[in-house]
Amino acid sequence: MPRPMHLAAHFPGVNNTTVWADPRSRSQIDFSSFELLARTAERGKFDFFFLAEGLRLREHNGRVHDLDVVGRPESLTVLNALAAVTDRLGLAATVNATFNEPYELARRLATLDHLSAGRAAWNVVTSSDAFTGENFRRGGYLDRADRYTRAAEFVATARELWDSWTPDGTSRPFAHDGTQFTISGEFTVPRSPQGHPVVIQAGDSDEGREFAASAADVIFTRHGTLEAGRVFYADVKARLAAYGREPGDLKIMPGVTVVTGDTDAEAQERAAGIRRQQVSPQNAILTAEQIWGTDLSAYDPDGPLPDIDPVPDSEITQGRVRHGDPFATVARWRAVSEAKGLSLRQTVIETTTRQSFIGSPRTVAAELTSFVDERAADGFILVPHLTPSGLDDFVDRVVPLLQESGAFRSEYTGSTLRSHLGLPEPVWKG
Ligand SMILES: Cc1cc2nc3c(=O)[nH]c(=O)nc-3n(C[C@H](O)[C@H](O)[C@H](O)COP(=O)(O)O)c2cc1C
Repeated sequence: MPRPMHLAAHFPGVNNTTVWADPRSRSQIDFSSFELLARTAERGKFDFFFLAEGLRLREHNGRVHDLDVVGRPESLTVLNALAAVTDRLGLAATVNATFNEPYELARRLATLDHLSAGRAAWNVVTSSDAFTGENFRRGGYLDRADRYTRAAEFVATARELWDSWTPDGTSRPFAHDGTQFTISGEFTVPRSPQGHPVVIQAGDSDEGREFAASAADVIFTRHGTLEAGRVFYADVKARLAAYGREPGDLKIMPGVTVVTGDTDAEAQERAAGIRRQQVSPQNAILTAEQIWGTDLSAYDPDGPLPDIDPVPDSEITQGRVRHGDPFATVARWRAVSEAKGLSLRQTVIETTTRQSFIGSPRTVAAELTSFVDERAADGFILVPHLTPSGLDDFVDRVVPLLQESGAFRSEYTGSTLRSHLGLPEPVWKG
C-alpha cells in the first residue's frame, strides 16, 4: 500500500508563472474565481485550499509590476466566504507574523475555524522587508535576525490564547509576558473545533526550519525535485525529536506544477507551449532585468544576452527576493546560451523553473506516488498556471488514478483539516 498522499490547491496569485493571456483566464479578485478553484479542489478530495499573501504591490524599475498579478483581496475574508460554499476542504491563509498582533490574528483564525467547523489553517510567513513595512505603522522596524524570534513567540502566544478557553467552554484570563509581546486579558472566542488551527510554515533558512520543527504542522517548501526533496525531508524530520515530536507530526508539502496530456509526448509539447506563454518577450526582458539589476529595455529578447555585467545590490525590483549571486547567474546563463545557441528569451525559458511533473495522467500519478514513497514529500501544494480552472485536468484525470491505486483518499474520512492531514489533536494546556 502506498503511503497516504496529501494534496492542496494554491490559488494562482502574485507570481510570474500565471498565464493571463490565455482566453480561459479570469479575475483573481471575483469571488466566483475563488469558489471555482475551491469547489474543484473539494471535488478532488484535496486536504486544503491555499492563499498566499503579498502585502505590497511589487515594483519594478520604479513602477508597479503589472506583468505580475496586480492586487488581491485579504485572505481570511475570502476564506470565511469559501467556508460557506465548501464542506470538508481545509482553508489556509498566509498571514505575516511581522505586521500583525497575536490577539487580533488568533481571534480571526479561531473565528474561521468556528465558521468552517474545523477547517482553518495559518501559513506563518515572516518579513523584514522595509519596502513592505512602509505600508504599516511600524514600517521596516524588525531586524532580519528577529523575524523568527517574533514569529515563534507569535505562534506560542496565539496558542496560549486558544487554550485560554477550556474544552468544555469556560473562559479564563490569559497573561503573556515575553520579549515580543506583553499582553493580558480575556480572549473573546471560545475554543474552536480544531483546538488550534493548523499551522503551516514557509521559509527555508536554518532558523525557518528550526521554527517549523518546533511549532508547525505543515511545511510549504520550494524543494520540489526528488533529490532536493529527499535531502530537505530528511533534514527537517531529523529536527523533530529535539522537540519531543514524531516524524508524522509535521507534513512536508512542496509547491509543484503539473502538465498532463493524452500521452507523455503531448504533455511535453503542452508544457513547452506554457513555458513560452509564461516567458513572453516582455517577461524575458523583465526577468533578465531582475538578474542584471538594471534597465535592459533597449535589448532584443530574440537577440543575444546583454553584453554587460550585472549591478550588485540593485533595488530595481521591490517586494521580491533576489536569489543568489547575480554574477554567478549571468555566467551560468552565458554558458547555456553559448552551448545551445539560445537567444535571451530562450535562455530564460531554459534556465528558469520549468514544470515539475509532465506526462500522461498515468505517468504523473506514478511519479507523485514515488515522491511520497521515497520520502521526498508527504504531499504537494499544486500551483496551477491558470486562474481559476488550472486544476480541472488534474482533478478529472490524475486524482482518479491516485485513488485507484490507494495513494490518495477516495472520500474524506473526517471533517476537520487536522483529521485529513492525520495530525494529532493539540493537547489542551490550561
Ligand atoms: C514556498 C514558500 C512560500 C512562501 N510564501 C510567502 C507568501 O505567500 N507571502 C510572504 O509574505 N512570504 C512568503 N514566503 C517567504 C517566507 O515567509 C520568508 O520570508 C522567506 O522565505 C525568507 O525566510 P527564510 O530566510 O527562512 O527562507 C514564502 C516562502 C517559501 C519558501
